[in-house]
Amino acid sequence: MKAAITATGRYFPDREVSNAYFYEDLGLDTSEDWIVSRTGIQTRRLADVSKGETCSFMATRAAEACLRDAGLEAGDLDAIVVATVTPDQPLPSVACFTQAALGAQGFAFDLVAACSGFVYGLDVCAAMVESGRAKRVMFIGADHMSSILDFNDRNTCILFGDAAGAVLIEQVPDDHPGTIHPSILRADGKGAKHLQIPAGGGRLPIDAGVLAERMNKVKQEGRVVFRHAVSSIVKVVQQYFAEQELTVDDIDLFIPHQANRRIIEAAADKLRVPREKTVITIDRFANTTAASIPTALDLAREEGRVMKGDRLLFATFGAGFTWGAQTVTWGL
Ligand code: ACO
Repeated sequence: MKAAITATGRYFPDREVSNAYFYEDLGLDTSEDWIVSRTGIQTRRLADVSKGETCSFMATRAAEACLRDAGLEAGDLDAIVVATVTPDQPLPSVACFTQAALGAQGFAFDLVAACSGFVYGLDVCAAMVESGRAKRVMFIGADHMSSILDFNDRNTCILFGDAAGAVLIEQVPDDHPGTIHPSILRADGKGAKHLQIPAGGGRLPIDAGVLAERMNKVKQEGRVVFRHAVSSIVKVVQQYFAEQELTVDDIDLFIPHQANRRIIEAAADKLRVPREKTVITIDRFANTTAASIPTALDLAREEGRVMKGDRLLFATFGAGFTWGAQTVTWGL
């Protein structure tokens, strides 16, 4: 029994926030030139919670688009899995809220692997489908990053956007053209201190001191994360190629996590992936964490860049540290 991606969908909030918002409206000591030259980001979409735009709202809209693409109803799903680090509330899961909003049944749970959430979750969902535990899984990468950003911290707040991307993972016959191939997943928990939200869990519950120090918001040592991201992505993809007996010429499209344009280009150059085969969306949407790869995939499909039989390479690096690589053969 094998698993394949059989439909995609995405949701971006309408509210577009340019770089000028940070230096003109918020008065941060940053500039258009710094943000564009150091990150490649020109604009991003941020959710409006006053209009109900939470993580599960975005996940639900992306899943609805994916169901429309598949020609299926919510009742056809066996499971809903959401990769996220920004739930609507600590309990219950975004997946449960999404299930209710869709009017679906079946089991539902969230998976936490930060920016690696899509690659980790794709592997988990594919394994459930291959084993026969579920026939049809709606897998969504969704993050409401603006809910965990400190908008006084120029080191982090300019980097992220909000979005959700969904893929339908289905059991398909062996002669189906699409396949989710094995992945390589990696983690190194010693990297936790370099990219984290220190408070809000059992170790440091929220109190007035935490709020004053904004310890319930993302803290990142950007330079350390940058260095690890490039070397880890390159190493894991090289190992993936060796294990799967692939070369870069076998890859039709490289869809990396969108953390920083310089990370993407440095990794692509080291792996010798040409620019025209590399999908970049960070300029328009910034880093949307678990949503970055599935939204980039959906946009690439819409732009006619994904063809039946193509081998797509996903690679990622994020908080944890977590990282990994995976390929799929496109069957649509
Ligand atoms: N505007 C102006 N100056 C800034 C800004 C800003 N928005 N942000 C930082 N700076 C300053 C720094 O304070 C520093 O000043 P200093 O030299 O006086 O200390 C200077 O710019 C240079 O800082 P660097 O850290 O060297 O800049 P770098 O070129 O590394 O770019 C960045 C910073 C964009 C954060 C980069 O390091 C990066 O992208 N890191 C990786 C992010 C990432 O991949 N995250 C993982 C995924 S996130 C997740 O998993 C949830």
